[in-house]
Amino acid sequence: MSAFLFVTPTWDGKAWATKMAKAAPHLEMRVWPDMGKLEDIHYVAAWLPPPNVVASLPNLKVIYSLGAGVDAILGDKTLPTNVPIVRVNDDDLTNRMSEYIVMHCLMHHRQQRRLDQQQSDKQWNQFNQHAASAMTVGVMGLGVLGQDAAKKLAMMGFRVVGWSRSKKSIPNVTSFAGKSEFDAFLGETDILVSLLPATPETDGLINRSLIRKLSRKGPFGAPVLINAGRGRQQVAEDIVAALDTGELHAATLDVFKPEPLPISSPLWSHPKVTITPHNAADSEPAAICQYVADEIARFERGEPLRNLVDTTRGY
Ligand SMILES: NC(=O)c1ccc[n+]([C@@H]2O[C@H](COP(=O)([O-])OP(=O)(O)OC[C@H]3O[C@@H](n4cnc5c(N)ncnc54)[C@H](OP(=O)(O)O)[C@@H]3O)[C@@H](O)[C@H]2O)c1
Repeated sequence: MSAFLFVTPTWDGKAWATKMAKAAPHLEMRVWPDMGKLEDIHYVAAWLPPPNVVASLPNLKVIYSLGAGVDAILGDKTLPTNVPIVRVNDDDLTNRMSEYIVMHCLMHHRQQRRLDQQQSDKQWNQFNQHAASAMTVGVMGLGVLGQDAAKKLAMMGFRVVGWSRSKKSIPNVTSFAGKSEFDAFLGETDILVSLLPATPETDGLINRSLIRKLSRKGPFGAPVLINAGRGRQQVAEDIVAALDTGELHAATLDVFKPEPLPISSPLWSHPKVTITPHNAADSEPAAICQYVADEIARFERGEPLRNLVDTTRGY
């Protein structure tokens, strides 16, 4: 008997287990807190697991993250250190994130919010639009999601630069790497996109000092921010202050700290802010379950695990 356990207190674990049962019929599905005989559980899918739950499984072989980010798992400081953690790297999720990033870059670049306001005011005002090549999009985080978004933005005609820990070679994308090249990257960037993971190093990174280092050479004279990485990366008060002084032209935010964004947050009603409820890259649960089932089948054939999380780096 081999069992698969969902430890997802904030999600509907039973609905996920039904889908997983279709993708991996040879496994018995269990949903925390009804764990049954702990010895049978070989695989876990976790999201914000309570402490000591995953640690209590004596025969656990692999921990799966049901999302691309793993901060919701690594927050459990009682996780066993000898069990590999694997994250989802699924084309469906990647495509949806790139749709979001391209859409919001275009929305700001083509001044769609200004056009919406004009329509609401019944105003016919044919202001000038700029070519995409007049804007440089800077993508922070050139991993699975960042690379795909960067390539698609370059196809749209934007100039694209990217920043990551290690140097990348991506057609039509200028790569900057590490702390030493961070300021040079920011200085090129008219639209800053964050697709970084939440780690101690990226916490609070999007602050007033970063905003002041961004390019002012673009058509709007001030930069735009798009954060679809994690809310922990942004200092909300600094973003509001920079928008109010004009240091920042506009922002699209999909992620917040905390979530849901409290009603009292000034971000909700700020005229220069577009808010989405952390659904930039929602993915089809059936597609994620199929992905996990395929990875389990590979693992059971003795093939190496892919998309392993490096717990020391935090992503
Ligand atoms: N809003 C949503 O709906 C949503 C959905 C899915 C994911 N996400 C977020 O997107 C993040 C990225 O996902 P992914 O699959 O692209 O992750 P990934 O493949 O692990 O890529 C992470 C990228 O960030 C870079 N990076 C990490 N720490 C850095 C640092 N301190 N300095 C510079 N670069 C750093 C990495 O550099 P190296 O390449 O050099 O290692 C890598 O390029 C997730 O962690 C999650 O937070 C959001």
